[in-house]
Amino acid sequence: GQSEQETLFDINTEVARYFSNNLLNDDEGQIAREYFQKRNIKVQTMRAFGLGYALNGWENLVSFLKQKNIDLEKALQLGLIGRNKDGRVYDKLAGRIIFPIFSPNGRVVAFAGRKLREDDTGAKYINSPESIIYVKGRVLYGLSFAKDEIRKLDKAIIVEGYMDLISLYQAGIKNVVAVSGTALTDEQAQLLSRYTKNVVLLFDADTAGIAASMRSIEILLRKDFDVKIATLPAGEDPDSFVNKYGKEEFEETIKRAENFLEYQTAYFEKQGMFVDPTKAAEAIRELVKPIAIIDDELKRNILIKAISKKFNLREKLLEKELEKALEQEK
Ligand code: GTP
Ligand code: MN
Ligand code: MN
Ligand code: MN
Ligand code: MN
Repeated sequence: GQSEQETLFDINTEVARYFSNNLLNDDEGQIAREYFQKRNIKVQTMRAFGLGYALNGWENLVSFLKQKNIDLEKALQLGLIGRNKDGRVYDKLAGRIIFPIFSPNGRVVAFAGRKLREDDTGAKYINSPESIIYVKGRVLYGLSFAKDEIRKLDKAIIVEGYMDLISLYQAGIKNVVAVSGTALTDEQAQLLSRYTKNVVLLFDADTAGIAASMRSIEILLRKDFDVKIATLPAGEDPDSFVNKYGKEEFEETIKRAENFLEYQTAYFEKQGMFVDPTKAAEAIRELVKPIAIIDDELKRNILIKAISKKFNLREKLLEKELEKALEQEK
Protein backbone atom coordinates (compact mmCIF):
# COMPACT_ATOMS: atom_id res chain seq x y z
CA GLY A 1 0.00 0.00 0.00
CA GLN A 2 0.98 3.64 -0.13
CA SER A 3 2.14 5.81 2.75
CA GLU A 4 -0.20 7.90 4.86
CA GLN A 5 1.30 11.02 3.25
CA GLU A 6 0.65 9.77 -0.26
CA THR A 7 -2.98 9.07 0.61
CA LEU A 8 -3.44 12.61 1.93
CA PHE A 9 -1.78 14.15 -1.15
CA ASP A 10 -4.10 12.11 -3.35
CA ILE A 11 -7.17 13.33 -1.47
CA ASN A 12 -6.05 16.95 -1.75
CA THR A 13 -5.41 16.51 -5.46
CA GLU A 14 -8.91 15.13 -6.04
CA VAL A 15 -10.46 17.89 -3.95
CA ALA A 16 -8.46 20.58 -5.75
CA ARG A 17 -9.77 19.24 -9.05
CA TYR A 18 -13.31 19.35 -7.65
CA PHE A 19 -12.97 22.97 -6.44
CA SER A 20 -11.44 23.99 -9.76
CA ASN A 21 -14.28 22.38 -11.69
CA ASN A 22 -16.81 24.27 -9.55
CA LEU A 23 -15.10 27.52 -10.45
CA LEU A 24 -14.69 26.89 -14.15
CA ASN A 25 -17.79 24.87 -15.03
CA ASP A 26 -20.51 24.87 -12.36
CA ASP A 27 -23.49 27.24 -12.63
CA GLU A 28 -22.99 28.39 -9.05
CA GLY A 29 -19.34 29.02 -9.92
CA GLN A 30 -20.50 32.04 -11.94
CA ILE A 31 -20.31 34.20 -8.82
CA ALA A 32 -16.69 33.19 -8.29
CA ARG A 33 -15.80 33.62 -11.96
CA GLU A 34 -17.20 37.15 -11.75
CA TYR A 35 -15.22 37.78 -8.60
CA PHE A 36 -11.95 36.87 -10.31
CA GLN A 37 -12.92 38.78 -13.42
CA LYS A 38 -13.43 41.91 -11.33
CA ARG A 39 -9.98 41.35 -9.90
CA ASN A 40 -8.53 41.04 -13.39
CA ILE A 41 -7.62 37.36 -13.08
CA LYS A 42 -7.75 35.53 -16.42
CA VAL A 43 -9.08 31.99 -16.86
CA GLN A 44 -5.60 30.85 -17.87
CA THR A 45 -4.27 32.14 -14.54
CA MET A 46 -7.08 30.41 -12.62
CA ARG A 47 -6.02 27.16 -14.29
CA ALA A 48 -2.31 27.72 -13.71
CA PHE A 49 -2.79 28.20 -9.97
CA GLY A 50 -5.55 25.62 -9.63
CA LEU A 51 -7.92 28.24 -8.23
CA GLY A 52 -11.35 27.04 -7.24
CA TYR A 53 -14.65 27.63 -5.58
CA ALA A 54 -16.32 25.74 -2.74
CA LEU A 55 -20.06 25.56 -3.35
CA ASN A 56 -22.20 27.11 -0.66
CA GLY A 57 -24.01 24.67 1.64
CA TRP A 58 -23.26 22.16 4.37
CA GLU A 59 -22.31 19.03 2.50
CA ASN A 60 -21.41 19.57 -1.12
CA LEU A 61 -17.82 18.50 -0.57
CA VAL A 62 -18.96 15.79 1.86
CA SER A 63 -21.13 14.29 -0.91
CA PHE A 64 -18.26 14.45 -3.37
CA LEU A 65 -15.95 12.68 -0.92
CA LYS A 66 -18.52 9.93 -0.30
CA GLN A 67 -19.10 9.50 -4.01
CA LYS A 68 -15.35 9.08 -4.52
CA ASN A 69 -15.11 6.63 -1.60
CA ILE A 70 -12.70 8.94 0.19
CA ASP A 71 -12.18 8.19 3.88
CA LEU A 72 -13.98 10.99 5.75
CA GLU A 73 -11.65 10.57 8.73
CA LYS A 74 -8.77 11.56 6.47
CA ALA A 75 -10.70 14.55 5.11
CA LEU A 76 -11.29 15.58 8.73
CA GLN A 77 -7.57 15.23 9.41
CA LEU A 78 -6.89 17.53 6.45
CA GLY A 79 -9.40 20.05 7.76
CA LEU A 80 -11.46 19.91 4.57
CA ILE A 81 -14.53 19.05 6.58
CA GLY A 82 -15.47 19.47 10.21
CA ARG A 83 -17.67 17.49 12.62
CA ASN A 84 -20.19 19.19 14.89
CA LYS A 85 -21.37 18.13 18.35
CA ASP A 86 -23.98 15.68 17.12
CA GLY A 87 -21.44 13.96 14.90
CA ARG A 88 -22.55 15.40 11.57
CA VAL A 89 -19.85 16.30 9.10
CA TYR A 90 -19.93 19.56 7.12
CA ASP A 91 -17.91 21.49 4.52
CA LYS A 92 -15.48 23.93 6.10
CA LEU A 93 -14.71 26.29 3.22
CA ALA A 94 -18.26 26.56 1.84
CA GLY A 95 -18.99 29.62 -0.29
CA ARG A 96 -15.35 30.62 -0.55
CA ILE A 97 -12.82 31.18 -3.33
CA ILE A 98 -10.17 28.49 -3.09
CA PHE A 99 -6.38 28.77 -3.34
CA PRO A 100 -4.59 25.41 -3.23
CA ILE A 101 -1.28 25.66 -1.40
CA PHE A 102 1.51 23.67 -3.02
CA SER A 103 4.73 22.11 -1.74
CA PRO A 104 7.94 23.16 -3.52
CA ASN A 105 7.41 20.08 -5.71
CA GLY A 106 3.93 21.17 -6.66
CA ARG A 107 1.82 18.85 -4.53
CA VAL A 108 -1.28 20.19 -2.82
CA VAL A 109 -0.56 20.35 0.91
CA ALA A 110 -3.42 22.60 2.02
CA PHE A 111 -6.10 25.06 0.94
CA ALA A 112 -6.91 28.66 1.71
CA GLY A 113 -10.47 29.89 1.30
CA ARG A 114 -11.28 33.57 0.84
CA LYS A 115 -14.69 35.03 1.41
CA LEU A 116 -16.43 36.40 -1.66
CA ARG A 117 -17.74 39.60 -0.12
CA GLU A 118 -16.06 41.75 2.46
CA ASP A 119 -19.22 41.72 4.64
CA ASP A 120 -19.59 37.91 4.65
CA THR A 121 -19.16 36.43 8.12
CA GLY A 122 -15.93 34.86 9.32
CA ALA A 123 -12.27 35.58 8.70
CA LYS A 124 -11.21 36.95 5.31
CA TYR A 125 -9.11 33.82 4.73
CA ILE A 126 -9.47 30.40 6.31
CA ASN A 127 -6.57 27.97 6.01
CA SER A 128 -6.35 24.23 6.37
CA PRO A 129 -5.02 23.33 9.80
CA GLU A 130 -1.56 21.81 10.04
CA SER A 131 -1.34 18.11 9.28
CA ILE A 132 1.37 15.56 8.59
CA ILE A 133 1.67 17.06 5.09
CA TYR A 134 1.27 20.74 6.04
CA VAL A 135 3.55 22.60 8.42
CA LYS A 136 2.67 26.28 7.97
CA GLY A 137 6.05 27.72 8.85
CA ARG A 138 7.73 25.56 6.22
CA VAL A 139 5.63 26.56 3.25
CA LEU A 140 6.13 29.55 0.99
CA TYR A 141 3.12 30.11 -1.20
CA GLY A 142 3.96 30.02 -4.89
CA LEU A 143 7.46 28.56 -4.56
CA SER A 144 6.71 25.70 -6.94
CA PHE A 145 5.78 28.24 -9.62
CA ALA A 146 8.61 30.64 -8.87
CA LYS A 147 11.64 28.51 -8.11
CA ASP A 148 13.08 28.29 -11.64
CA GLU A 149 12.74 32.03 -12.21
CA ILE A 150 14.22 32.78 -8.76
CA ARG A 151 17.26 30.67 -9.63
CA LYS A 152 17.54 32.25 -13.07
CA LEU A 153 17.35 35.84 -11.81
CA ASP A 154 19.15 34.96 -8.57
CA LYS A 155 16.61 37.10 -6.74
CA ALA A 156 13.29 36.61 -4.99
CA ILE A 157 10.58 39.11 -4.20
CA ILE A 158 8.71 38.34 -1.00
CA VAL A 159 5.09 39.50 -0.80
CA GLU A 160 2.35 39.00 1.79
CA GLY A 161 -0.60 37.54 -0.03
CA TYR A 162 -1.88 34.96 -2.47
CA MET A 163 -3.41 37.56 -4.75
CA ASP A 164 -0.17 39.56 -4.77
CA LEU A 165 1.75 36.59 -6.08
CA ILE A 166 -0.90 35.59 -8.61
CA SER A 167 -1.33 39.09 -10.06
CA LEU A 168 2.41 39.57 -10.37
CA TYR A 169 2.80 36.20 -12.05
CA GLN A 170 0.04 37.07 -14.49
CA ALA A 171 1.84 40.34 -15.23
CA GLY A 172 5.01 38.38 -16.02
CA ILE A 173 6.86 38.83 -12.72
CA LYS A 174 7.52 35.27 -11.67
CA ASN A 175 10.32 35.34 -9.09
CA VAL A 176 7.87 35.86 -6.24
CA VAL A 177 6.90 33.98 -3.08
CA ALA A 178 4.28 34.88 -0.49
CA VAL A 179 4.53 34.49 3.26
CA SER A 180 0.72 34.36 3.58
CA GLY A 181 0.25 37.00 6.22
CA THR A 182 2.32 35.61 9.05
CA ALA A 183 5.82 36.94 9.60
CA LEU A 184 8.56 35.17 7.68
CA THR A 185 9.87 32.19 9.63
CA ASP A 186 13.42 30.82 9.93
CA GLU A 187 12.32 27.73 8.07
CA GLN A 188 10.84 29.72 5.20
CA ALA A 189 14.09 31.69 4.93
CA GLN A 190 16.04 28.44 4.97
CA LEU A 191 13.85 27.00 2.23
CA LEU A 192 14.25 30.09 0.06
CA SER A 193 18.03 30.11 0.53
CA ARG A 194 18.25 26.97 -1.61
CA TYR A 195 17.32 29.11 -4.62
CA THR A 196 18.88 32.53 -3.99
CA LYS A 197 20.57 34.67 -1.37
CA ASN A 198 19.08 37.93 -2.65
CA VAL A 199 15.65 39.10 -1.59
CA VAL A 200 13.49 42.15 -1.93
CA LEU A 201 10.79 42.47 0.70
CA LEU A 202 7.62 43.96 -0.74
CA PHE A 203 4.97 44.01 1.91
CA ASP A 204 1.75 45.99 1.99
CA ALA A 205 2.06 49.73 2.56
CA ASP A 206 0.25 49.60 5.90
CA THR A 207 1.22 49.27 9.57
CA ALA A 208 1.12 45.47 9.49
CA GLY A 209 3.32 45.39 6.39
CA ILE A 210 5.94 47.69 7.88
CA ALA A 211 6.05 45.63 11.08
CA ALA A 212 6.41 42.44 9.03
CA SER A 213 9.29 43.96 7.04
CA MET A 214 11.14 44.98 10.18
CA ARG A 215 10.78 41.50 11.68
CA SER A 216 11.75 39.71 8.48
CA ILE A 217 15.01 41.64 8.04
CA GLU A 218 16.75 39.98 11.00
CA ILE A 219 15.53 36.53 10.06
CA LEU A 220 16.93 36.91 6.55
CA LEU A 221 20.25 38.40 7.69
CA ARG A 222 20.74 35.36 9.93
CA LYS A 223 20.59 33.17 6.84
CA ASP A 224 23.14 35.40 5.09
CA PHE A 225 20.70 36.97 2.64
CA ASP A 226 21.29 40.28 1.00
CA VAL A 227 18.12 42.13 2.04
CA LYS A 228 16.44 45.01 0.27
CA ILE A 229 13.09 46.57 0.99
CA ALA A 230 10.81 48.11 -1.61
CA THR A 231 7.92 50.37 -0.68
CA LEU A 232 4.57 50.95 -2.33
CA PRO A 233 2.38 54.05 -2.19
CA ALA A 234 0.28 54.19 1.00
CA GLY A 235 -2.67 51.81 0.97
CA GLU A 236 -1.44 49.71 -1.97
CA ASP A 237 -0.34 46.11 -2.08
CA PRO A 238 1.55 44.45 -4.95
CA ASP A 239 -1.71 43.17 -6.47
CA SER A 240 -3.48 46.54 -6.44
CA PHE A 241 -0.32 48.30 -7.58
CA VAL A 242 0.46 46.13 -10.59
CA ASN A 243 -3.17 46.26 -11.71
CA LYS A 244 -3.24 50.04 -11.42
CA TYR A 245 0.19 51.00 -12.74
CA GLY A 246 1.42 48.00 -14.74
CA LYS A 247 4.58 45.94 -15.00
CA GLU A 248 7.08 48.70 -15.87
CA GLU A 249 6.12 50.86 -12.89
CA PHE A 250 6.30 47.77 -10.74
CA GLU A 251 9.81 47.02 -11.93
CA GLU A 252 10.81 50.62 -11.17
CA THR A 253 9.56 50.12 -7.62
CA ILE A 254 11.74 47.04 -7.27
CA LYS A 255 14.75 48.90 -8.68
CA ARG A 256 14.27 51.64 -6.11
CA ALA A 257 14.46 49.12 -3.23
CA GLU A 258 16.68 50.33 -0.40
CA ASN A 259 19.09 48.26 1.62
CA PHE A 260 17.80 47.38 5.06
CA LEU A 261 19.87 50.06 6.77
CA GLU A 262 18.45 52.87 4.61
CA TYR A 263 14.96 51.50 5.11
CA GLN A 264 15.23 51.29 8.88
CA THR A 265 16.83 54.73 9.08
CA ALA A 266 13.99 56.27 7.08
CA TYR A 267 11.50 54.47 9.30
CA PHE A 268 13.03 55.84 12.51
CA GLU A 269 13.19 59.30 10.96
CA LYS A 270 9.49 59.12 10.14
CA GLN A 271 8.84 58.15 13.73
CA GLY A 272 10.59 61.33 14.83
CA MET A 273 13.28 59.42 16.71
CA PHE A 274 16.06 61.83 15.81
CA VAL A 275 14.64 64.94 17.41
CA ASP A 276 15.47 64.03 20.97
CA PRO A 277 18.87 62.62 22.00
CA THR A 278 17.52 59.75 24.12
CA LYS A 279 15.41 58.39 21.30
CA ALA A 280 18.14 59.08 18.78
CA ALA A 281 20.61 56.98 20.77
CA GLU A 282 18.04 54.23 20.98
CA ALA A 283 17.46 54.39 17.23
CA ILE A 284 21.19 54.25 16.47
CA ARG A 285 21.53 51.16 18.67
CA GLU A 286 18.58 49.60 16.84
CA LEU A 287 20.32 50.30 13.54
CA VAL A 288 23.57 48.73 14.72
CA LYS A 289 21.92 45.57 16.08
CA PRO A 290 21.07 43.88 12.77
CA ILE A 291 24.54 44.71 11.44
CA ALA A 292 25.98 42.44 14.13
CA ILE A 293 24.10 39.53 12.57
CA ILE A 294 26.09 39.80 9.34
CA ASP A 295 28.99 37.35 9.09
CA ASP A 296 31.05 39.34 6.61
CA GLU A 297 33.27 41.79 8.54
CA LEU A 298 33.84 43.98 5.49
CA LYS A 299 30.09 44.34 4.95
CA ARG A 300 29.66 45.23 8.61
CA ASN A 301 32.34 47.89 8.30
CA ILE A 302 30.74 49.43 5.22
CA LEU A 303 27.40 49.71 7.02
CA ILE A 304 28.96 51.19 10.15
CA LYS A 305 30.70 53.78 7.98
CA ALA A 306 27.36 54.62 6.39
CA ILE A 307 25.78 55.31 9.79
CA SER A 308 28.79 57.33 10.83
CA LYS A 309 28.52 59.52 7.75
CA LYS A 310 24.77 59.90 7.83
CA PHE A 311 24.58 60.97 11.46
CA ASN A 312 27.99 62.56 11.73
CA LEU A 313 29.00 60.24 14.55
CA ARG A 314 32.55 59.05 15.23
CA GLU A 315 33.17 55.61 13.76
CA LYS A 316 34.99 54.48 16.92
CA LEU A 317 31.84 55.11 18.90
CA LEU A 318 29.71 53.05 16.54
CA GLU A 319 32.28 50.28 16.49
CA LYS A 320 31.97 50.07 20.28
CA GLU A 321 28.22 49.69 19.90
CA LEU A 322 28.77 47.04 17.27
CA GLU A 323 31.13 45.15 19.63
CA LYS A 324 28.39 45.14 22.26
CA ALA A 325 25.87 43.89 19.75
CA LEU A 326 28.29 41.21 18.56
CA GLU A 327 28.70 40.04 22.17
CA GLN A 328 24.91 39.69 22.38
CA GLU A 329 24.89 37.68 19.17
CA LYS A 330 27.31 35.05 20.53
P1 GTP B 1 -7.08 40.39 -0.82
O1 GTP B 1 -7.87 41.20 0.14
O2 GTP B 1 -7.85 39.26 -1.38
O3 GTP B 1 -6.40 41.21 -1.86
O4 GTP B 1 -5.97 39.65 0.03
P2 GTP B 1 -4.59 40.21 0.57
O5 GTP B 1 -3.59 39.15 0.34
O6 GTP B 1 -4.32 41.58 0.08
O7 GTP B 1 -4.93 40.27 2.12
P3 GTP B 1 -4.10 40.94 3.29
O8 GTP B 1 -3.14 41.94 2.82
O9 GTP B 1 -5.12 41.36 4.29
O10 GTP B 1 -3.36 39.70 3.91
C1 GTP B 1 -2.18 39.17 3.36
C2 GTP B 1 -2.21 37.67 3.50
O11 GTP B 1 -2.40 37.34 4.86
C3 GTP B 1 -3.34 36.96 2.79
O12 GTP B 1 -3.07 36.69 1.43
C4 GTP B 1 -3.46 35.71 3.60
O13 GTP B 1 -2.45 34.78 3.26
C5 GTP B 1 -3.20 36.19 5.01
N1 GTP B 1 -4.44 36.55 5.69
C6 GTP B 1 -5.11 37.72 5.62
N2 GTP B 1 -6.23 37.68 6.36
C7 GTP B 1 -6.26 36.47 6.93
C8 GTP B 1 -7.18 35.81 7.80
O14 GTP B 1 -8.20 36.34 8.19
N3 GTP B 1 -6.84 34.53 8.19
C9 GTP B 1 -5.72 33.91 7.74
N4 GTP B 1 -5.47 32.65 8.16
N5 GTP B 1 -4.84 34.49 6.91
C10 GTP B 1 -5.11 35.74 6.50
MN1 MN C 1 -1.78 43.27 4.42
MN1 MN D 1 -4.81 42.58 -1.70
MN1 MN E 1 -2.76 42.84 0.89
MN1 MN F 1 25.62 33.55 9.25
